[in-house]
Amino acid sequence: MRIIETIDEVRQALSTSKGTIGVVPTMGYLHPGHVSLIERARQACDCVVVTIFVNPLQFGPNEDYDRYPRDLKRDAQLAEQAGADFLFTPSVEEMYPRPNQVGLTVRGLSDKLCGASRPGHFDGVATVVTKLFHIIQPSHAYFGQKDAQQLAIIQCMVEDLNLPISIVPCPTLREADGLAMSSRNVYLSEEERKQAPILYQSLLDVTKALDQGAFSHASEVVNSIHEMFKQAPLGDIDYVEAFTYPDLQPIENLSDQPIIIALAVRFGKTRLIDNVIWSRK
Ligand code: PAJ
Repeated sequence: MRIIETIDEVRQALSTSKGTIGVVPTMGYLHPGHVSLIERARQACDCVVVTIFVNPLQFGPNEDYDRYPRDLKRDAQLAEQAGADFLFTPSVEEMYPRPNQVGLTVRGLSDKLCGASRPGHFDGVATVVTKLFHIIQPSHAYFGQKDAQQLAIIQCMVEDLNLPISIVPCPTLREADGLAMSSRNVYLSEEERKQAPILYQSLLDVTKALDQGAFSHASEVVNSIHEMFKQAPLGDIDYVEAFTYPDLQPIENLSDQPIIIALAVRFGKTRLIDNVIWSRK
Protein backbone atom coordinates (compact mmCIF):
# COMPACT_ATOMS: atom_id res chain seq x y z
CA MET A 1 0.00 0.00 0.00
CA ARG A 2 1.26 3.44 -0.90
CA ILE A 3 0.61 6.45 1.32
CA ILE A 4 0.10 9.66 -0.64
CA GLU A 5 -0.34 13.18 0.72
CA THR A 6 -0.77 15.36 -2.35
CA ILE A 7 -3.51 15.70 -4.96
CA ASP A 8 -1.03 15.78 -7.86
CA GLU A 9 0.63 12.58 -6.71
CA VAL A 10 -2.59 10.61 -6.18
CA ARG A 11 -3.87 11.72 -9.60
CA GLN A 12 -0.58 10.66 -11.16
CA ALA A 13 -0.63 7.28 -9.39
CA LEU A 14 -4.24 6.56 -10.42
CA SER A 15 -3.82 7.72 -14.02
CA THR A 16 -2.26 4.37 -14.97
CA SER A 17 -4.76 2.29 -12.98
CA LYS A 18 -6.95 0.04 -15.12
CA GLY A 19 -10.45 -1.20 -14.29
CA THR A 20 -12.66 -0.18 -11.40
CA ILE A 21 -11.57 2.17 -8.60
CA GLY A 22 -13.28 1.91 -5.22
CA VAL A 23 -12.94 4.76 -2.72
CA VAL A 24 -13.60 4.58 1.01
CA PRO A 25 -13.72 8.14 2.41
CA THR A 26 -13.00 8.33 6.16
CA MET A 27 -11.82 10.72 8.86
CA GLY A 28 -9.43 8.06 10.20
CA TYR A 29 -9.03 6.47 13.62
CA LEU A 30 -10.15 3.36 11.82
CA HIS A 31 -12.21 0.66 13.52
CA PRO A 32 -13.73 -2.60 12.24
CA GLY A 33 -16.68 -0.65 10.74
CA HIS A 34 -14.29 1.24 8.43
CA VAL A 35 -12.34 -1.97 7.79
CA SER A 36 -15.52 -3.72 6.61
CA LEU A 37 -16.00 -0.98 3.99
CA ILE A 38 -12.41 -1.38 2.77
CA GLU A 39 -12.81 -5.17 2.58
CA ARG A 40 -16.03 -4.76 0.65
CA ALA A 41 -14.26 -2.46 -1.83
CA ARG A 42 -11.37 -4.95 -2.08
CA GLN A 43 -13.77 -7.75 -3.07
CA ALA A 44 -15.40 -5.71 -5.83
CA CYS A 45 -12.79 -3.31 -7.25
CA ASP A 46 -9.48 -3.56 -9.10
CA CYS A 47 -7.99 -0.66 -7.16
CA VAL A 48 -8.92 0.46 -3.64
CA VAL A 49 -8.24 3.96 -2.32
CA VAL A 50 -8.87 4.83 1.33
CA THR A 51 -8.92 8.52 2.19
CA ILE A 52 -8.28 9.94 5.65
CA PHE A 53 -9.10 13.59 6.10
CA VAL A 54 -10.61 15.23 9.16
CA ASN A 55 -12.62 17.80 7.26
CA PRO A 56 -12.83 21.13 9.13
CA LEU A 57 -15.70 22.25 6.88
CA GLN A 58 -18.14 19.76 8.40
CA PHE A 59 -17.46 20.63 12.06
CA GLY A 60 -19.37 23.38 13.85
CA PRO A 61 -17.47 25.99 15.94
CA ASN A 62 -18.20 24.17 19.23
CA GLU A 63 -17.66 20.66 17.92
CA ASP A 64 -14.75 18.26 18.34
CA TYR A 65 -12.57 19.13 15.31
CA ASP A 66 -9.48 19.88 17.42
CA ARG A 67 -9.80 16.84 19.63
CA TYR A 68 -11.01 14.40 16.94
CA PRO A 69 -8.89 11.26 17.56
CA ARG A 70 -5.99 10.70 15.14
CA ASP A 71 -3.53 7.78 14.75
CA LEU A 72 -2.15 7.63 11.25
CA LYS A 73 0.38 4.88 11.93
CA ARG A 74 -2.24 2.45 13.19
CA ASP A 75 -4.69 3.50 10.46
CA ALA A 76 -2.07 2.73 7.79
CA GLN A 77 -1.60 -0.78 9.18
CA LEU A 78 -5.35 -1.44 9.30
CA ALA A 79 -5.96 -0.07 5.80
CA GLU A 80 -3.12 -2.17 4.38
CA GLN A 81 -4.32 -5.35 6.12
CA ALA A 82 -7.83 -4.75 4.77
CA GLY A 83 -6.41 -4.63 1.24
CA ALA A 84 -6.12 -0.93 0.33
CA ASP A 85 -3.76 -0.09 -2.54
CA PHE A 86 -3.51 3.62 -1.71
CA LEU A 87 -4.03 5.66 1.42
CA PHE A 88 -4.66 9.31 0.58
CA THR A 89 -4.01 11.55 3.61
CA PRO A 90 -4.01 15.18 2.48
CA SER A 91 -3.37 18.07 4.87
CA VAL A 92 -5.93 20.82 5.41
CA GLU A 93 -3.68 23.15 3.34
CA GLU A 94 -3.66 20.64 0.50
CA MET A 95 -7.47 20.35 0.43
CA TYR A 96 -8.23 24.00 1.25
CA PRO A 97 -5.24 26.19 0.25
CA ARG A 98 -7.51 29.21 0.86
CA PRO A 99 -10.96 29.48 2.45
CA ASN A 100 -13.09 27.96 -0.28
CA GLN A 101 -15.32 30.39 -2.13
CA VAL A 102 -17.48 27.75 -3.77
CA GLY A 103 -19.13 24.79 -2.09
CA LEU A 104 -22.23 22.64 -2.20
CA THR A 105 -25.50 23.32 -0.39
CA VAL A 106 -27.78 20.46 0.57
CA ARG A 107 -31.46 21.33 0.79
CA GLY A 108 -34.41 19.46 2.24
CA LEU A 109 -32.68 16.26 3.24
CA SER A 110 -30.30 18.23 5.47
CA ASP A 111 -32.79 20.24 7.55
CA LYS A 112 -33.74 17.32 9.83
CA LEU A 113 -32.06 14.71 12.08
CA CYS A 114 -28.33 15.50 12.41
CA GLY A 115 -28.66 18.41 9.96
CA ALA A 116 -31.01 20.22 12.34
CA SER A 117 -28.57 20.01 15.26
CA ARG A 118 -25.44 20.52 13.12
CA PRO A 119 -26.14 23.47 10.78
CA GLY A 120 -23.83 23.42 7.73
CA HIS A 121 -22.55 19.93 8.54
CA PHE A 122 -23.93 18.24 5.43
CA ASP A 123 -22.84 21.12 3.17
CA GLY A 124 -19.31 20.43 4.44
CA VAL A 125 -19.69 16.68 3.90
CA ALA A 126 -21.11 17.10 0.37
CA THR A 127 -18.36 19.56 -0.56
CA VAL A 128 -15.46 17.43 0.66
CA VAL A 129 -16.89 14.20 -0.78
CA THR A 130 -17.31 15.93 -4.15
CA LYS A 131 -13.71 17.14 -4.00
CA LEU A 132 -12.53 13.62 -3.14
CA PHE A 133 -14.63 12.19 -6.00
CA HIS A 134 -13.05 14.67 -8.44
CA ILE A 135 -9.55 13.89 -7.18
CA ILE A 136 -9.86 10.08 -7.12
CA GLN A 137 -12.46 9.64 -9.91
CA PRO A 138 -13.74 6.36 -8.47
CA SER A 139 -16.23 4.03 -10.15
CA HIS A 140 -17.54 2.93 -6.72
CA ALA A 141 -17.72 4.63 -3.32
CA TYR A 142 -18.47 2.89 -0.03
CA PHE A 143 -20.49 4.47 2.78
CA GLY A 144 -21.84 3.08 6.05
CA GLN A 145 -25.51 2.77 6.89
CA LYS A 146 -24.64 3.97 10.40
CA ASP A 147 -24.61 7.50 8.97
CA ALA A 148 -27.89 6.91 7.16
CA GLN A 149 -28.66 10.58 6.52
CA GLN A 150 -25.15 11.12 5.09
CA LEU A 151 -25.64 8.07 2.86
CA ALA A 152 -29.06 9.31 1.65
CA ILE A 153 -27.57 12.75 0.90
CA ILE A 154 -24.57 11.32 -1.00
CA GLN A 155 -26.88 9.07 -3.02
CA CYS A 156 -29.08 12.06 -3.83
CA MET A 157 -26.04 14.21 -4.69
CA VAL A 158 -24.74 11.62 -7.15
CA GLU A 159 -28.16 11.57 -8.85
CA ASP A 160 -28.74 15.34 -8.80
CA LEU A 161 -25.25 16.11 -10.15
CA ASN A 162 -25.05 13.10 -12.54
CA LEU A 163 -21.82 11.81 -11.05
CA PRO A 164 -20.85 8.50 -12.72
CA ILE A 165 -20.23 6.71 -9.41
CA SER A 166 -22.03 3.75 -7.81
CA ILE A 167 -22.66 4.38 -4.12
CA VAL A 168 -22.45 1.14 -2.16
CA PRO A 169 -24.28 1.14 1.22
CA CYS A 170 -22.65 -1.06 3.89
CA PRO A 171 -24.22 -2.40 7.10
CA THR A 172 -23.38 -1.02 10.57
CA LEU A 173 -20.75 -2.96 12.52
CA ARG A 174 -21.37 -3.18 16.26
CA GLU A 175 -19.58 -4.03 19.48
CA ALA A 176 -20.65 -7.28 21.20
CA ASP A 177 -23.18 -5.35 23.31
CA GLY A 178 -24.73 -3.71 20.25
CA LEU A 179 -23.10 -0.26 20.46
CA ALA A 180 -22.42 0.93 16.90
CA MET A 181 -18.67 1.20 16.32
CA SER A 182 -17.52 4.80 16.09
CA SER A 183 -14.22 6.66 16.33
CA ARG A 184 -15.93 8.80 18.98
CA ASN A 185 -16.61 5.85 21.35
CA VAL A 186 -13.13 6.39 22.84
CA TYR A 187 -14.36 9.61 24.42
CA LEU A 188 -16.88 7.77 26.64
CA SER A 189 -16.18 7.41 30.36
CA GLU A 190 -16.55 3.95 31.89
CA GLU A 191 -20.05 4.73 33.18
CA GLU A 192 -21.15 6.36 29.91
CA ARG A 193 -19.86 3.35 27.97
CA LYS A 194 -21.97 1.07 30.20
CA GLN A 195 -25.14 3.02 29.38
CA ALA A 196 -24.41 3.64 25.67
CA PRO A 197 -25.79 0.27 24.38
CA ILE A 198 -29.26 1.68 25.20
CA LEU A 199 -29.23 3.37 21.76
CA TYR A 200 -29.33 0.08 19.85
CA GLN A 201 -31.29 -1.74 22.54
CA SER A 202 -34.11 0.79 22.31
CA LEU A 203 -34.10 0.50 18.49
CA LEU A 204 -34.25 -3.30 18.72
CA ASP A 205 -37.10 -3.15 21.22
CA VAL A 206 -39.22 -0.89 19.03
CA THR A 207 -38.54 -2.91 15.86
CA LYS A 208 -39.65 -6.03 17.72
CA ALA A 209 -42.83 -4.26 18.84
CA LEU A 210 -43.35 -2.98 15.27
CA ASP A 211 -43.01 -6.55 13.94
CA GLN A 212 -45.71 -7.60 16.40
CA GLY A 213 -47.99 -4.80 15.20
CA ALA A 214 -47.86 -3.01 18.56
CA PHE A 215 -47.67 0.51 17.05
CA SER A 216 -49.75 2.18 14.37
CA HIS A 217 -48.29 5.69 14.64
CA ALA A 218 -44.72 6.92 14.36
CA SER A 219 -45.17 9.06 17.48
CA GLU A 220 -45.77 5.91 19.55
CA VAL A 221 -42.40 4.55 18.38
CA VAL A 222 -40.66 7.79 19.31
CA ASN A 223 -42.40 8.01 22.71
CA SER A 224 -41.50 4.44 23.52
CA ILE A 225 -37.78 5.18 22.92
CA HIS A 226 -37.95 8.30 25.11
CA GLU A 227 -39.49 6.14 27.83
CA MET A 228 -36.67 3.57 27.61
CA PHE A 229 -34.04 6.27 28.04
CA LYS A 230 -35.20 6.78 31.62
CA GLN A 231 -32.98 3.74 32.31
CA ALA A 232 -29.90 5.65 31.03
CA PRO A 233 -29.74 8.87 33.06
CA LEU A 234 -26.37 9.89 31.56
CA GLY A 235 -27.84 9.93 28.04
CA ASP A 236 -29.26 13.29 26.94
CA ILE A 237 -31.44 12.80 23.86
CA ASP A 238 -30.75 15.21 21.00
CA TYR A 239 -33.42 13.70 18.73
CA VAL A 240 -35.46 10.55 18.19
CA GLU A 241 -37.35 10.52 14.90
CA ALA A 242 -39.10 8.23 12.46
CA PHE A 243 -39.14 9.16 8.76
CA THR A 244 -39.76 7.44 5.46
CA TYR A 245 -36.53 6.06 3.99
CA PRO A 246 -34.57 7.04 1.91
CA ASP A 247 -36.46 10.28 1.18
CA LEU A 248 -36.71 11.24 4.89
CA GLN A 249 -40.26 12.53 4.80
CA PRO A 250 -42.37 12.85 7.97
CA ILE A 251 -44.76 9.96 8.51
CA GLU A 252 -47.46 9.55 11.10
CA ASN A 253 -49.59 6.54 10.13
CA LEU A 254 -47.32 3.54 9.68
CA SER A 255 -47.90 1.76 6.38
CA ASP A 256 -45.96 -0.69 4.23
CA GLN A 257 -43.36 1.96 3.43
CA PRO A 258 -39.89 1.40 4.89
CA ILE A 259 -39.11 3.80 7.73
CA ILE A 260 -35.91 4.87 9.42
CA ILE A 261 -35.91 5.21 13.17
CA ALA A 262 -32.93 7.36 14.06
CA LEU A 263 -31.59 8.87 17.24
CA ALA A 264 -28.73 11.03 18.50
CA VAL A 265 -27.81 11.06 22.17
CA ARG A 266 -25.22 13.03 24.12
CA PHE A 267 -23.24 11.28 26.82
CA GLY A 268 -21.27 14.12 28.40
CA LYS A 269 -19.47 15.79 25.47
CA THR A 270 -19.83 12.75 23.21
CA ARG A 271 -22.65 12.65 20.69
CA LEU A 272 -23.60 9.17 19.50
CA ILE A 273 -25.97 8.28 16.65
CA ASP A 274 -27.66 5.10 15.53
CA ASN A 275 -30.57 4.01 13.36
CA VAL A 276 -32.47 1.05 12.00
CA ILE A 277 -34.52 0.74 8.87
CA TRP A 278 -37.76 -1.12 9.38
CA SER A 279 -40.36 -2.39 6.95
CA ARG A 280 -43.28 -4.74 7.40
CA LYS A 281 -42.23 -8.28 6.52
P1 PAJ B 1 -16.15 8.62 9.31
O1 PAJ B 1 -17.00 8.97 10.48
O2 PAJ B 1 -14.70 8.33 9.53
O3 PAJ B 1 -16.81 7.39 8.58
C1 PAJ B 1 -16.28 6.91 7.37
C2 PAJ B 1 -17.23 5.88 6.81
O4 PAJ B 1 -17.31 4.76 7.70
C3 PAJ B 1 -18.67 6.43 6.65
O5 PAJ B 1 -19.23 5.97 5.44
C4 PAJ B 1 -19.38 5.81 7.85
O6 PAJ B 1 -20.78 5.66 7.66
C5 PAJ B 1 -18.67 4.47 7.96
N1 PAJ B 1 -18.83 3.90 9.31
C6 PAJ B 1 -18.61 4.52 10.49
N2 PAJ B 1 -18.92 3.70 11.52
C7 PAJ B 1 -19.35 2.54 10.97
C8 PAJ B 1 -19.82 1.28 11.50
N3 PAJ B 1 -19.93 1.08 12.82
N4 PAJ B 1 -20.18 0.30 10.63
C9 PAJ B 1 -20.09 0.50 9.29
N5 PAJ B 1 -19.65 1.67 8.72
C10 PAJ B 1 -19.29 2.66 9.54
O7 PAJ B 1 -18.42 9.74 7.70
C11 PAJ B 1 -17.35 10.33 7.68
O8 PAJ B 1 -16.20 9.82 8.25
C12 PAJ B 1 -17.17 11.67 6.99
O9 PAJ B 1 -18.37 12.41 7.10
C13 PAJ B 1 -16.75 11.55 5.50
C14 PAJ B 1 -17.79 10.80 4.66
C15 PAJ B 1 -15.37 10.87 5.39
C16 PAJ B 1 -16.60 12.98 4.89
O10 PAJ B 1 -15.69 13.73 5.59
